[in-house]
Amino acid sequence: MYIYTYGCQMNVHDSEKMFGVLAQSGYVRAESAETADLIIFNTCAIREKAEQKFFSQLGRVKVLKRRRADIRIAVTGCVAQEAKDKLFVRAPHVDFVVGPSNLHRVGDLVSTGERRTYLEDDPDLGNREFSAQRENGIKCWVSIMYGCNNFCSYCIVPYTRGREISRPSAGIISEVRKLVEKGYKEVTLLGQNVNSYKSDIDFPELLRRIDALGIGRVRFVTSHPRDLSPRLIDAIAELPSVCEHIHLPLQSGSDEILRRMNRRYSYARYLENIKALRLRVPDIAITTDLIVGFPGESEDAYEDTVQALKEIEFDGIFAFKFSKRRGTAAFGMEDQISEEVKAKRLGRILDIQEGVTYNKNKLLEGSVQEILVEGPSETDPDMLVGRSRMNKIVTIPEACGIGDFVMARIERARLHSLEGAAVGRDKSAECV
Ligand code: 5AD
Ligand code: SF4
Repeated sequence: MYIYTYGCQMNVHDSEKMFGVLAQSGYVRAESAETADLIIFNTCAIREKAEQKFFSQLGRVKVLKRRRADIRIAVTGCVAQEAKDKLFVRAPHVDFVVGPSNLHRVGDLVSTGERRTYLEDDPDLGNREFSAQRENGIKCWVSIMYGCNNFCSYCIVPYTRGREISRPSAGIISEVRKLVEKGYKEVTLLGQNVNSYKSDIDFPELLRRIDALGIGRVRFVTSHPRDLSPRLIDAIAELPSVCEHIHLPLQSGSDEILRRMNRRYSYARYLENIKALRLRVPDIAITTDLIVGFPGESEDAYEDTVQALKEIEFDGIFAFKFSKRRGTAAFGMEDQISEEVKAKRLGRILDIQEGVTYNKNKLLEGSVQEILVEGPSETDPDMLVGRSRMNKIVTIPEACGIGDFVMARIERARLHSLEGAAVGRDKSAECV
């Protein structure tokens, strides 16, 4: 088996789960699609570009099937759920179409032999336990909830991943406990909107219980500004393992556009959240997502977003041109913005943010940061690279081992990373 993975961290982790399910059914990993008997495309539908990337790769494997008729091709993930059996028409070499709620069934695919879809809702999704085959031995992902109830007007996720379901806390806690025993140093809790996690306990309480398990670091993505509670801010401030970083998608600085996006908060309210976070956790890094060129975004509305960037000074942003997704409320909205204007607006936003990011990094020069060393630097074999608690990439000379926590003084800021020098080790007595 071979899996192509597109899209977000959720998808990367879904692929890890599928590797686990398939291994239990006796599959082994192939080095490449060319030598695999089952090829899976785990797809992303969030923007047209992500979808196009998948379709062009799917086209390229057609020849493999022509050569070996017994190959089976499965499409999983968000495009699968969206396109359903239309995929068989568009790509006749596809055998199976499997939605994100049906990953547990990928082990049965080939034995069924026949072409078919697996797209039903799974009421038991929250209770399913997967033994994921994880890519990384130092940091890992753990799903705490699936789906989304927000229906932001641009977003396809509620249609592809269904309604919110939270996993009961016992399953999450025993999974994290096992990962700690295996030696993992960092866990990222995954959900479309982790702040609305609700099972037997709520999200701040879940963080408290996970903190008590003794894992070095806890992160979480992604948060919705509307559900950011004072108790969550307290948890970030008080729990030693919870990292000083939050990804809080703003999307737009204009109240009118936020309303059309169905975000259900105002810019003023978002700003209050930021102030509360910074007051309670002064060194917190804040990153965000922005969409430019949403239908009806006037020059003034766009300038509100530019202004927000200057006012908030995010540590980093992910900015996207609005992409029309069929089936969402924004698809048919009036006043769609031309590609040319979108591109211009995106370019300027990214330029402005570059300056902000660099200045933010510069402020860290001279400070001492805890780094979790993840591996050798790609550009310089004598250097190691890791991340600080604020999620900044830090390079350090090879003084200690991969998987160690190292205290490093930041010597020099760059745009996308920091250069550090080890000043001692923390939490770990020995280099590995
Ligand atoms: N067009 C552009 N960007 C989008 N996002 C979600 N849907 C769309 C869309 N239709 C962005 C949002 C979200 C991030 C994951 O992707 O900014 O936070
Ligand atoms: Fe992830 Fe959303 Fe893309 Fe699905 S559509 S893979 S949930 S980013």
